[in-house]
Amino acid sequence: MGRINLVLFSLLSCVSTFVTVHCEDPYLFFTWNVTYATLSPLGVPQQVILINGQFPGPKINCTSNNNIVVNVFNNLDEPFLFTWNGIQQRKNSWQEGTLGTTCPIPPGKNFTYHFQVKDQIGSFFYHATTALHHAAGAYGPIHVHSRDLIPVPFDRPEDEYDVLVGDWYTKGHSTLKRLLDSGRTLARADGVLINGKAGSTKGENEPTFTMIPGKTYRYRFCNVGMKNSINVRIQGHTMKLVEIEGSHTVQNVYDSLDVHLGQCYSVLVTANQEPKAYYLVASTRFTKTVLTSTATIRYSGSTGPASPELPKGPVGWAWSLNQFRPFRWNLTASAARPNPQGSYHYGQIRAWSLNQFRSFRWNLTASAARPNPQGSYHYGQINITRTIKLVNSAGKVDGKLRYAINGISHENTETPLKLAEYFGVADKIFKYDLLKDEPPTDTEQISIAPNVINATFRNFVEIIFENHEKSVQSWHLAGYAFFAVAIEPGKWTPDKRKNYNLLDAVSRNTIQVYPKSWAAIMTTLDNAGMWILRSMISERKYLGQQLYISVLSPARSLRDEYNIPDNDPLCGIVKDLPMPKPYTA
Ligand SMILES: *[C@@H]1O[C@H](CO)[C@@H](O)[C@H](O)[C@H]1NC(C)=O
Ligand SMILES: *[C@@H]1O[C@H](CO)[C@@H](O)[C@H](O)[C@H]1NC(C)=O
Ligand SMILES: *[C@@H]1O[C@H](CO)[C@@H](O)[C@H](O)[C@H]1NC(C)=O
Ligand SMILES: *[C@@H]1O[C@H](CO)[C@@H](O)[C@H](O)[C@H]1NC(C)=O
Ligand SMILES: *[C@@H]1O[C@H](CO)[C@@H](O)[C@H](O)[C@H]1NC(C)=O
Ligand SMILES: *[C@@H]1O[C@H](CO)[C@@H](O)[C@H](O)[C@H]1NC(C)=O
Ligand SMILES: *[C@@H]1O[C@H](CO)[C@@H](O)[C@H](O)[C@H]1NC(C)=O
Repeated sequence: MGRINLVLFSLLSCVSTFVTVHCEDPYLFFTWNVTYATLSPLGVPQQVILINGQFPGPKINCTSNNNIVVNVFNNLDEPFLFTWNGIQQRKNSWQEGTLGTTCPIPPGKNFTYHFQVKDQIGSFFYHATTALHHAAGAYGPIHVHSRDLIPVPFDRPEDEYDVLVGDWYTKGHSTLKRLLDSGRTLARADGVLINGKAGSTKGENEPTFTMIPGKTYRYRFCNVGMKNSINVRIQGHTMKLVEIEGSHTVQNVYDSLDVHLGQCYSVLVTANQEPKAYYLVASTRFTKTVLTSTATIRYSGSTGPASPELPKGPVGWAWSLNQFRPFRWNLTASAARPNPQGSYHYGQIRAWSLNQFRSFRWNLTASAARPNPQGSYHYGQINITRTIKLVNSAGKVDGKLRYAINGISHENTETPLKLAEYFGVADKIFKYDLLKDEPPTDTEQISIAPNVINATFRNFVEIIFENHEKSVQSWHLAGYAFFAVAIEPGKWTPDKRKNYNLLDAVSRNTIQVYPKSWAAIMTTLDNAGMWILRSMISERKYLGQQLYISVLSPARSLRDEYNIPDNDPLCGIVKDLPMPKPYTA
């Protein structure tokens, strides 16, 4: 069983009726054995989590609408869950794999996830959501290809490479968890890994990617790390951006890209340089000490070494952070400047990031599965029915560090919120709407409670993330793609809406918010379920910076949401309750 069992039987699942033949979408089956092992990614032996003996875990390579079945055997000594970051789980938050939706898989047991990648394409990844298992590497890539006959706005690349980048701690996940449990922070990461390897700048490196001279390759970058934004770049080559988290973009060319926690970007790279080796570089952003790792890209048939001189990333801003407080950037002016990586004053550094964000545009003419709020691609013309403004904060509760959203620091409950709601016992487990749409004036006054927003099915909502802190934030919303319409310095006011990109903002699932800045997203809450909105910064998420959005269809109809799966494990107070009346057609 140590290998992936992958069976395709689209032919077997066709059902013929009188005149038509309905073919169920193909199934892909995976069996995963999750175990501990001792590895030394940064030269220090530590406990790492393997999936079928691999770190990072196996790739899920699939096509839009495929049914994915993953039977996960938990051979750790603790409860465990995976989530499928970016897979929208239409009508199916049962498969979300967070502690608010699903009972964790007990040690020695297995659980089978079953979901469909409905109408999606793009680059995503899966990761552990229990304890601090994510710090031990329980992650891997997900590719969702366009179906045959659906045109893709670029030629088929010669090959595709996953580049999972992330900062890494040598302490081990249990020690890190104890640190957080005792109310401290994780402090500084120890290094950066690329596909589980540290790399060096001396000689050939692992991982190694091979390119045939003259051919074009797709590199899918995801930041799977714990705390830091990562800048990626390739010696001597430019990168043509083609996709961000499920949207084909306008194909701009970049020397380097910032990949914030939880984000994924696909680029095309053509082997059009002297045939030899080149470094792919990943380095932390916005940190005092820049941690760097490299991988080697080798042109096939070549022997020449890579130049030891690494391309520089954009200049960090940590040294000037304090000066950002009174600073207001003129975006009109900054947008007009051609080369933000040049030698302007320190304010320019933030402009580089903002300009990069603003340059990301959805390719409106590319045909692919795309979100279609209320039957229209013109999301800019839909009236906003609700504005939720969220301010992140840090503070102490009983002398221990906690992170909060609008003053509420989420705590997980033994009974998953979704199950409590489904079984009609929500009132015994949590209160809806402790969090208000308008943040309190003192967001550092923190209380700990399950944090659940009661949202109205099909509302078109605007969520504003205001970051008053000195560190960069990264927010991920499950269950949906959203339009990332703006990121600007300062505080949000309603008149900032005139600056939104209401035409071709990228539809994605994770958005960064720079220090002392805000970001705005919009989405239609048309996917019934219980959906997590979380900071992708591990310590923040673990210490409470997450919430759930409950979206219930009043119809209790199978058209809107699936019933609880038969194999769903029950725990907490719903364990022995009778099954509720199922949803009906
Ligand atoms: C998973 O791996 C462990 C350790 O290699 C092994 O003992 C166990 O039998 C495996 N479980 C399954 C279900 O293959
Ligand atoms: C991934 O899936 C695509 C589309 O189904 C296929 O063309 C490709 O060969 C697959 N790659 C791997 C490594 O399985
Ligand atoms: C556990 O795995 C077995 C196959 O080994 C499978 O029959 C069973 O359905 C799985 N259990 C769950 C809860 O998915
Ligand atoms: C957008 O997609 C279309 C259709 O596939 C393609 O022809 C075009 O080059 C793309 N436009 C940009 C700006 O990337
Ligand atoms: C920002 O710069 C633009 C273009 O240089 C200028 O027209 C505008 O007045 C400036 N705005 C502010 C608020 O300084
Ligand atoms: C949106 O709101 C405007 C102003 O309140 C109103 O005139 C318009 O009819 C609304 N549009 C829709 C589609 O509801
Ligand atoms: C949630 O909001 C809906 C309106 O969208 C309302 O009907 C319902 O009573 C609310 N539920 C709770 C528990 O507050």
